[in-house]
Amino acid sequence: MGTLSTAFLVVALVFAVDQLRRKRERSARLPPGPPGVPLFGNTFQVAPVHPWKQFYELSKQYGPVMRLQLGGQTTIILSSYEAAQGILTAHAADTASRPRQYVASDLASGGMRLLFIPHGPRWRLMRRALHSGVSIRAAESYAPMQEAESAILLHDILTAPTPERYDAGTAIRRFTTSIVTTAAYARRSATGQEENVQRLYECMATIARLGRPGSNIVQYVSWFEYLPGWLAPWRAEAEDAHKKELGLFKAMFQRARAEEGPMCFARELAEKQEEMELNDSEASYLVGSLFGAGSDTTAGSFLSLIQLLIANPEVQRLAQAEIDAVTGGDRLPLVSDIPRMPYVRGCVKEVLRIRPVTSGGSPHLATADIAYGDYIIPAGSVVQGNHWAINRDLDKFSDPEEFRPDRWDAKEPMEEGIGSFGYGRRVCPGQHVAVRTLFIATARLLFGFDLKLAKDESGNDIPIDPNAYSNGFNSVPLPFPAAFIPRDADRATVIKAEYGRAISEVSKYGIL
Ligand code: HEM
Repeated sequence: MGTLSTAFLVVALVFAVDQLRRKRERSARLPPGPPGVPLFGNTFQVAPVHPWKQFYELSKQYGPVMRLQLGGQTTIILSSYEAAQGILTAHAADTASRPRQYVASDLASGGMRLLFIPHGPRWRLMRRALHSGVSIRAAESYAPMQEAESAILLHDILTAPTPERYDAGTAIRRFTTSIVTTAAYARRSATGQEENVQRLYECMATIARLGRPGSNIVQYVSWFEYLPGWLAPWRAEAEDAHKKELGLFKAMFQRARAEEGPMCFARELAEKQEEMELNDSEASYLVGSLFGAGSDTTAGSFLSLIQLLIANPEVQRLAQAEIDAVTGGDRLPLVSDIPRMPYVRGCVKEVLRIRPVTSGGSPHLATADIAYGDYIIPAGSVVQGNHWAINRDLDKFSDPEEFRPDRWDAKEPMEEGIGSFGYGRRVCPGQHVAVRTLFIATARLLFGFDLKLAKDESGNDIPIDPNAYSNGFNSVPLPFPAAFIPRDADRATVIKAEYGRAISEVSKYGIL
């Protein structure tokens, strides 16, 4: 053997030994987690219902940076505020991507839903395009429309056949839907029953189901992708969902583009679509998927808040005292009252903390090795902030199960420190719209009504089960009745008068 070959062999050997050492060192520094079974790891240990609660309990044993092996996928669950900041925020560039979601993204969204798109030029372009529709400035410009829609919501509740035993879910969903679709298409939902609204709800429910962690084994065992159709019924279902959704989004986008009327995100996007090199399907999806991202999330948070206000009557009294002091009790609160109502603002922040809609967080993909304390999070891992656990982090929130609006610093921006909008570069772009919608709805509801448990025919309280939440990627309260008791006749008169003004304000928009 020549000197050259010997030297080559030695170098190769040194390299191999070094690689092995590094691999061992890396695996020794992997975060801890519960033991799994060969091949499938922890896949079959994940609770089928509300797994974020199970992960929260496990984090008490394994710590705030916990590893799960879900099939071939290493998943790191973060359960403290410090870990979420130290990993998803401090390493934002290396955690900005998404794991591949074959069913929910590739099949059911044609790879065009912003929420699932991997980090890269396409994602950057879409986020930039979205800015004009959801930035703080855009959110501020929606105030008249949010005020009008919330006045209509109050009127819906006031005139419900039995406000003392009323499931407000449908009226609240109409309200949040109308805000998002007016911003998106300059078209509102007047009844919540329009055909397009029903179709939107249907598409959203399918995506929520297909995107829920653990909803499908193919999320964890990628070779299941290659199973023939008869063994993989999810393929036809997801492809069909995409076909329906794209058809709907395209029709709504094209209609907005062809129409004249108040400015909206669809028309703004249509003007710069060519310059941004977005094709019709991408532009349609960008506008259309705002509905799925923004409507049920906001409605679910508001429904949670109603439950928490009922459970905490003293919070209602304090919020109402603040609202009355600012409004004098003879006008509805306005979006511009936000700085004068720190306690009501605190109610919004507190519901987002204690009942985070995206309870388990959304998955980020580590695209480089990340060192955090003694741990290494290897490139290729999924990193997920468990909002349910993070928002109960004892280092940040004392008595985390208590609903305490006064724990929030009134000097901080409204979106600051909530965490339920995610972390790092993928943080929710709709948060400025969401917190303003929630603020105006909360301030106005408490202006007009006392909230209590509804009573059954025998006069007994109908309890609200705080665990009765849906089990999707977004988890929202299941239907429940509550009592909405008008505070007095004068306030009811204010609501009726504002309803008239609101209807005339929204009459410039079409119907979805
Ligand atoms: C209470 C209401 C809302 C909550 C709790 C919420 C929460 C979230 C969360 C947790 C994420 C993922 C963040 C991450 O990956 O770390 C997200 C993403 C997103 N949200 Fe929201 N959201 C809300 C309302 C809205 C609204 C009103 C809109 C639009 C008008 C919106 C649009 C989006 C979009 C487009 C994304 C995808 C961003 C991306 O992946 O780059 N959201 N949201």
